[in-house]
Amino acid sequence: MTTTTGSTTATGSVGTAHTRVEGRDKVTGAARYAGDLPFSELAHGWLALSTVARGRIRSVESAAVLGMPGVLTVLHHQNAPRVDSDYIGVLGVPPDPTIALFQHDRVQHAGWPVALVVAETSEQAREAAEALVVHYEEEPHDVAFLGERPDANPLDTTEKGDLESELAASAVVVDAEYTTPEEHHNPMEPHAATARWEGGRLEVVDSNQGTTWVADELVKLFCLDPASVRVRSEHVGGGFGGKGVRAHQVAAVMAATVLQRPVRVVMTRRQMFSIAGYRSPTAQRIRLGADADGRLRALDHRSLNLTSTVYEFTEPCAGVGRVLYDADAHHTSNRVVRLDVPTPTWMRAPGEAPGSFALESALDELAEKCGIDPIALRARNEPERGPVSGLPFSSRRLLDCFREGARRFGWADRDPRPGLRRDGRWLLGTGTAASSFPAGAAPSTAAVTAQPDGTFTVRIAAADIGTGARTAITLVTADALEVAPDRVRVRIGDSDFGPAMIAGGSMGTRSWAWAVTTAARELRERLALDAGIPPEGLTVRSDTSEAIRALAHKERHSFGAQFAEVAVDVTTGEVRVRRMLGIFAAGRIVNPLTARNQLVGGMIWGISMALHEEAVRDQVSGGHAGADLAGYHVATHADVPLIEADWVDDPDPDDPVGIKGIGEIGIVGAAAAIANAVWHATGVRHRSLPIRPDRVL
Ligand code: MOS
Repeated sequence: MTTTTGSTTATGSVGTAHTRVEGRDKVTGAARYAGDLPFSELAHGWLALSTVARGRIRSVESAAVLGMPGVLTVLHHQNAPRVDSDYIGVLGVPPDPTIALFQHDRVQHAGWPVALVVAETSEQAREAAEALVVHYEEEPHDVAFLGERPDANPLDTTEKGDLESELAASAVVVDAEYTTPEEHHNPMEPHAATARWEGGRLEVVDSNQGTTWVADELVKLFCLDPASVRVRSEHVGGGFGGKGVRAHQVAAVMAATVLQRPVRVVMTRRQMFSIAGYRSPTAQRIRLGADADGRLRALDHRSLNLTSTVYEFTEPCAGVGRVLYDADAHHTSNRVVRLDVPTPTWMRAPGEAPGSFALESALDELAEKCGIDPIALRARNEPERGPVSGLPFSSRRLLDCFREGARRFGWADRDPRPGLRRDGRWLLGTGTAASSFPAGAAPSTAAVTAQPDGTFTVRIAAADIGTGARTAITLVTADALEVAPDRVRVRIGDSDFGPAMIAGGSMGTRSWAWAVTTAARELRERLALDAGIPPEGLTVRSDTSEAIRALAHKERHSFGAQFAEVAVDVTTGEVRVRRMLGIFAAGRIVNPLTARNQLVGGMIWGISMALHEEAVRDQVSGGHAGADLAGYHVATHADVPLIEADWVDDPDPDDPVGIKGIGEIGIVGAAAAIANAVWHATGVRHRSLPIRPDRVL
């Protein structure tokens, strides 16, 4: 288990600790982010967002600001280029109509983009955008997410067995409602894009999770020749699911087209709360029925989330139970209600993060009612096959994670009774929860070139959103070529490199590794056969579409066990996490340094989710109160205790490198482990996040 640090042999790079290949550039400031790159003749766009939550635009008073210093143009619904949003994108879904900017006079939510002011400098653009008067015809809006509603749209349901009769036959029943609030990604680097037309091609320098994804959307939206669009995204300061196609790229392309000069659009932190996507609040009802020994007879997980009036997005919370536990009667459903709010989107572990809070809290409540240890309860309900799919698991080492975690955390000594341990004014408790996330792979293309000087260059449209993907690809390629990693240079973040999986769904590194391994192995074989490398280099390309299509049908998931110890201040209600441990079975670990970083990052976000994060929507304005990092609390260093993440050996049997994916599993179950620890400390169940001091008291 764990890290092997030290020298790497020619074929042993994967599994050894390497600092990020671009780390020095990042910490010295040499790495340029999308909003930093210089362009001559650069103009700056500033988005103006609606102040009403629903209605229509009566007029945009642009004449008054066109006379302001430096202002070049004001784009709005009456003069912006027309776009086509009637298409299916590369991810297999139609676009959220929100990205079809300035196409009509309707306002669909507070913070809806109504105009782009373009000026010579960013400051001039901002001043003019803030001075821009827009008149609205306001309509009544509804932004209140109040849980159960008769008009909720059932989207995604699984049903096995007779739920009511199994519940009736159960010796022990848990029936509880859990809620989680609206949460926001808030990557450190705000969204930023620069668009320009150069030699008949559109180039967009952007911060995103997939250059070919964004390029494809822009091609379709603007009806362009695919060969004429290039999107680059060299360094990305965090994504978490929110860095896809957004208003900033579309606005920048529109303005660059109209003005025929490069235009940059950067979102402010405040704007990101309205136009960068977020995680929907959820209301989840869970019913568990079990025999006295804890064996599940019934599992019912019904989740409700919200979406906008223009696009249906589901936060699929109920999915996590389809993998974790079987029951004689097993029902799950995800439903949505439409409100006058921005469309939510993927945010790290979409579905699993809030879903596991509810399900893993409910399991803890069941363990308490049955009087059995929470880990023993999970062991009693470990399924042989996918509970809903009936498919075999590619590998499932959940119980090994619990065993190893329990040993290291010191679980065996735990007195299960709540509210007994004190440290001065603090009540102490420990909790645990299971973790799971799908392990998938998606088709990608890559090119690996051997240069005459003995070095190699990889080209793949991968995205490194801070995860260390570039470094992982370097190590994987080095092993496939059987060379040391310092001979491999990896170029990513350029749609000209051809189709590749996005940095998302915990599938990036696995998908890219598959493609580069395929190309690099073939290149190594060719080099072994014939010695000559032409001056321009010898290139082998790969496309993994067929290999991935041929993958056997199995339940493929990463698993994990989360442990937390908390202290609860009985006078202030403050909850402090004292330590956390996560043990994961998540495929072969490519780079222990960045993997640990990724898993710990997810667990820290679990602390944030459990105790701090909560976007507050003002019912009157329809917008947010405190749409900034002062009003929206995230865990900071002072909130983060000793956190350890480690793993058990779990190579994927069907992956050429053995990878499963670790991007999202770190947050799954983390909030439940903390909530369960708060119960253990205080004897009080917290079924609504965040567990704020005022709720604890
Ligand atoms: Mo992840 S939420 O698929 O970026």
